[in-house]
Amino acid sequence: MEKLLAQVSSYYTEKIERFGAQPLGVDWNGLDGQVLRFAQLCKLLPPEVPFSIADVGCGYGALLEYLLAQYEGVEYIGIDISEAMVETATRLRGQDARARFVVGTEPPHPTDYVVASGIFNVRLGTSTDAWCTYIESTLENMDRFSTRGFAFNCLTSYSDEHKKRADLHYANPGELFDLCKRRYSRNVALLHDYDLYEFTILVRK
Ligand SMILES: C[S@@+](CC[C@H](N)C(=O)[O-])C[C@H]1O[C@@H](n2cnc3c(N)ncnc32)[C@H](O)[C@@H]1O
Repeated sequence: MEKLLAQVSSYYTEKIERFGAQPLGVDWNGLDGQVLRFAQLCKLLPPEVPFSIADVGCGYGALLEYLLAQYEGVEYIGIDISEAMVETATRLRGQDARARFVVGTEPPHPTDYVVASGIFNVRLGTSTDAWCTYIESTLENMDRFSTRGFAFNCLTSYSDEHKKRADLHYANPGELFDLCKRRYSRNVALLHDYDLYEFTILVRK
């Protein structure tokens, strides 16, 4: 697991150092897709009640800006495996009293909600089996650190075959839905209707 995480960290560190605080710097190809993913994940959140939220794989903190524009009473913690990401996020958004950023792979304490956008996609040289084990153990942490629910996205196995890349992981949405339903909650939503080659799962407790 250490080797896997070290590879992921250096992959994203290279992106932020090369492109800076913009979607390309977290390996997204554009702002529209980045925000569309946030919109799916945020369907988990209550529209009018204050909440605390942990963002695992926060990148340069783009979700924070989205949340502050849409919700009142947000208490945010961003976690990222890449020190360079956390430095960038802290420089950009660390002065906000409602937010803080830490280096790591799991929240330092429980929050109402835990979300993760884009952390299960780039597998690099890791085998599919090892990557699936990694996804499952990360979901265990997201469950453990969230009191009201968690949400994440993955590239879909329903992507066009000729467009699939060997270094990316395409998860089976039905299998992850089933796992979340059996393991975490009766209330699970699978969102696979937003045009990107991916899906989002919301787990409400
Ligand atoms: C595709 S980027 C998305 C960043 C951000 N969520 C966004 O949508 O703007 C994925 C980020 O997750 C971080 N990351 C990947 N795996 C992680 C893990 N297991 N724990 C913490 N951070 C992780 C990477 O360093 C990178 O910054």
